[in-house]
Amino acid sequence: MCGIIGYAGHRPAVPVVVEGLRRLEYRGYDSAGTAFVRQGDLRVVRAKGKLAALEEKLAGEPVVTATCAMGHTRWATHGVPAERNAHPHLSNDGTLALVHNGIIENYQEIKEDLTARGYVFHSETDTEVLVNLIAERRKSEKDLRGAFAAALREAKGAYAVCLMCNDEPETVYAARMSAPLIFGLGTGENFVASDIPAFLPYTRQVVFLEDGEIVCATATNYETLRLEDLRPTTHVPQTILWDMQAAQKGGYRHFMLKEIFEQPRVITDGLTGRVNGDGDGALLPELDSLPVPERLHIVACGTSWHSGLWGRHLLEHWAHIPVQVEIASEFRYRESLLLRKDDMVLVISQSGETADTLAALRIAREQGATVLGLCNVVGSSIAREASSALYTQAGPEISVASTKAMCSQMLMLALMALYWSGRKDAGDASDTQTKDQRRYLIGLLESLPALLEAHLPGMHENARRLARKYADARNFFYLGRGHCFPLALEGALKLKELSYIHAEGYAAGEMKHGPIALIDSAFPTFALALDDALFPKAKSNIVEVQARQGKVIALANEGLDLAVDDHWVIPRLPAPLSAFAALPALQLFSYEMADYLGKDVDQPRNLAKSVTVE
Ligand code: AGP
Repeated sequence: MCGIIGYAGHRPAVPVVVEGLRRLEYRGYDSAGTAFVRQGDLRVVRAKGKLAALEEKLAGEPVVTATCAMGHTRWATHGVPAERNAHPHLSNDGTLALVHNGIIENYQEIKEDLTARGYVFHSETDTEVLVNLIAERRKSEKDLRGAFAAALREAKGAYAVCLMCNDEPETVYAARMSAPLIFGLGTGENFVASDIPAFLPYTRQVVFLEDGEIVCATATNYETLRLEDLRPTTHVPQTILWDMQAAQKGGYRHFMLKEIFEQPRVITDGLTGRVNGDGDGALLPELDSLPVPERLHIVACGTSWHSGLWGRHLLEHWAHIPVQVEIASEFRYRESLLLRKDDMVLVISQSGETADTLAALRIAREQGATVLGLCNVVGSSIAREASSALYTQAGPEISVASTKAMCSQMLMLALMALYWSGRKDAGDASDTQTKDQRRYLIGLLESLPALLEAHLPGMHENARRLARKYADARNFFYLGRGHCFPLALEGALKLKELSYIHAEGYAAGEMKHGPIALIDSAFPTFALALDDALFPKAKSNIVEVQARQGKVIALANEGLDLAVDDHWVIPRLPAPLSAFAALPALQLFSYEMADYLGKDVDQPRNLAKSVTVE
């Protein structure tokens, strides 16, 4: 996510802002910028890359005496990382500057209207559209706050924004809707920021703004107002007791835990702008110019490969597209004959820089295939070299162990299956879903954030209890069938990469072909036994394990007839969407095991966040 800081106070503002951005660097970014008023003119200084590049540019500025400024670090969602896309963005008339975190869903239609009114745009961002919409509303509203509110009421989607105006050099305006923004109350100085670390050295008094709230702040005064009617609101400031490091993790012990708990937001953000108005179709304009694939080859590594294995179930059952899933390091040396002219390749990579996956992409393109890139990092190598890039919009994933990235990849794969199903339906293909079926599935996807918000704390408690109970295990089996097999692989990967306990993820039906010889009372099994067509088979595999004195943790749904050592009940969802409930349970179990065993959760030994070498 982007970093935002606004300052109005008694100090030289630009150094306060730049240092605040530095304390938000952990969030990841690809460009930065700042705005302040000098002799009645709004000055915007921006730079691609790290803060050092911005500071180099600022060094060339005349001495900046402003005591009010704002700054931004950009994690690209619209438009590649480049200075022209960096924030702040100026209105055409140069009187307003805006920084923004989030996604304005309807920015294209607003842009068309403003273009018709003579506005010109220099970036691909939704932010530049918003700042010019505010400028346009100033023509009809009685003051800037009125124009700010009017424009924000027209913007649909998620935003945390900070605004400055050349006529009001000592004031910052800010607002939030479904994106974090916090107000810091200092002595003779006030702050707004996307996260507490930005201003923690100056004040621990904070006001957590509500969705649909505006704040107008000067050095010595502030007001909070309702966006809908500008009526004043009141808040009791809270005192933050965290240290800086805890603040950067949002109060969580580790980034991994924070990112597991971000998964509801990841689903919300991933759905933003990707469901049609009738709620019965997925919108993926990145794919509009491409044919519906006759066959799809998914190629990836690690957790991303597990996502692909899971996505195959949806792509085949919802869109009736035959799918082959391969590990990139195998694909790249197989000299495969797989690619026919109508084949399409989808490479999945959170980082967009994994060497094996990038190599696979290049080989597929050399064979003339259309290659889609599903990435989290905008402008990454895979995103740039793919025929078309789709973004998971999960925000930066700091912990080496991939958690929210997999959730976001699964969501995108579900949307791709729904999208291609809709394309085939529109083409009168008989072998695909109806609108009603898509509407039902989209409704389930839209219900996930609230469901996870409600159940994650309880899952965490179960994970903590079971991790302590099984902490002396030296080996673990993870078993799953059908769409739960990729989850078994992922659960095993999480446990081994975080706690260094040997764990095997296996197709449950394969146990009798040898691996069951390993089972004894010291070799526990984590079995996925969800309420789906394969439950009876999963149950019989559990009985096979128990017959060899193997202990079993079963991840199951309420009411299923199971007799196991530990029955972990999770919310019921229809397969394969039940994976969205099972995945965080598996993540939390491995997190709690690693934390209990005193491992380095966010930086496990021998691992890198992005494997850019073979
Ligand atoms: C997952 O927890 C690991 N960190 C690793 O397997 C990772 O998924 C793999 O290296 C692929 O990374 P990518 O998605 O960035 O390509």
